[in-house]
Amino acid sequence: MSIELINLFYLVAAVLFILGLKGLSHPRTAVRGNLLGSAGMLLAIVVTLLDKRIVSFEVIVAGIVVGALIGAVMAYRAPMTAIPQVVAIFNGFGGGASALAVGAALEEALRGGFVEAIDFQFTLSAAGAALIGAISFTGSGIAFGKLQGLIKERPILLPGRHVINAILVLVCLGLSAWLVADPTSSLSFWILVGVASLLGIMLVIPIGGADMPVVISLLNAYSGIAAAGHGWVLNNSVLIIAGSLVGAAGFILTALMCRAMNRSLPNVVFAGVGAVVATATESEDIYAGRVKAASAEEVAMLLDGARRVVIAPGYGMAVAQAQYAIQDLANLLESKGVEVDFAIHPVAGRMPGHMNVLLAEANIPYEKLKDIDQINPTFRQTDVVLVVGANDVVNPMARDDDPSIPIAGMPILNVDEARSVVVVKRSLSPGFAGIPNPLFAADNTLMLFGDAKKMALDLVAALKET
Ligand code: TAP
Repeated sequence: MSIELINLFYLVAAVLFILGLKGLSHPRTAVRGNLLGSAGMLLAIVVTLLDKRIVSFEVIVAGIVVGALIGAVMAYRAPMTAIPQVVAIFNGFGGGASALAVGAALEEALRGGFVEAIDFQFTLSAAGAALIGAISFTGSGIAFGKLQGLIKERPILLPGRHVINAILVLVCLGLSAWLVADPTSSLSFWILVGVASLLGIMLVIPIGGADMPVVISLLNAYSGIAAAGHGWVLNNSVLIIAGSLVGAAGFILTALMCRAMNRSLPNVVFAGVGAVVATATESEDIYAGRVKAASAEEVAMLLDGARRVVIAPGYGMAVAQAQYAIQDLANLLESKGVEVDFAIHPVAGRMPGHMNVLLAEANIPYEKLKDIDQINPTFRQTDVVLVVGANDVVNPMARDDDPSIPIAGMPILNVDEARSVVVVKRSLSPGFAGIPNPLFAADNTLMLFGDAKKMALDLVAALKET
């Protein structure tokens, strides 16, 4: 195949990637977007395989079979709540693969005596891919370990970590300069891979488990940049384009998540948020004598008399897998003439779009899912808000500008403005931010203690009897 034809197909693949990403920006077009992106990737792979420079198809086929098997088993076995760590580990493998493949290209050029091919573009891109690919590999491994419960989820704050990290960054830059200045040896490259791997670990261990989705999105962006660097080394345009798109999409998602939490990226990466947990006394001050528990029957009566109910789901709904029971509850209420909407906070749960995905899985129509700007002005006209396993995203303490409050300034769902609030959770334990929630002690709040799925089923049963 001529190079012109290959580039033409690569261009078509790149257009499919862009259309795919555009489709993924809305739930309604997401499936089509996914298919377009996958078609683009298939085209890019087939064209690359037909390129006459491919020497051994056996190794490639073996790699595809082994990789597809491991990937399929992992994806199939992972429950919905484990998707963030699955994404993390897949990203990490992408970054690690880029670093290793660039190393292989360097070794091949050195062994084959093509030293003149190792020009400035080659070495600079190789250093970039090694640095960023290795950081994303080990960083994603740590993120996986934290979310999977293999490593302590809370931030591990080593003394002098900022100084150690600064030294590691300087060493990485020095090794990159060495590689660019002397491309006749690969020693600098492999030491760079080692030091950058250590830096990846150091950068992620001080970050708390619940901030991992932001970190994973950032590492995803890194793995894209590493792939783009790999593309520069191989002079492969589709790899440069695909890597840049992954990098840009990852950075945009990271920025959106930070904005939704009203936190800066440096605060997420360096502040060690989540290391401090509320003391028992703090919680006692807020809750003592003020928390009112209700039974499913009492809450069912309240819901039965309502004209408008808003359901505000959070991480606990995902843990309990309560979305189907919640759908039954919403349908039952609607059949009784109650208007039901869902309040979706952008960082409810543990990954972007977590609530949207779960509720879509239970076939709740998209029109019923209202984002924070749409739903907040309606709470004053709402009779009952049912908070299902959400905590931080409905915590009025976020309105305080005291910087010691980890969620200070984060926009929240103003559920406390409704006539009545019912909070479904198992105890008074805090959410990710580790702080008490005055909503639980508010005059218009009732607590329905229990697992979200069980409580939703109990409410359905009780409502049927009213
Ligand atoms: P959280 O504040 O984490 O609270 C979840 C609550 O669910 C807990 O208080 C827990 O209370 C309850 N829960 C757990 N299992 C349950 C079950 N089986 N049944 C009923 N309740 C259960 O959740 P949120 O309000 O969704 O807030 C998300 C937090 O994660 C925010 O702080 C956000 O900044 C952070 N975060 C999110 C993201 C994304 S992208 N979503 C990214 C980074 C950080 P009990 O133990 O008492 O039941």
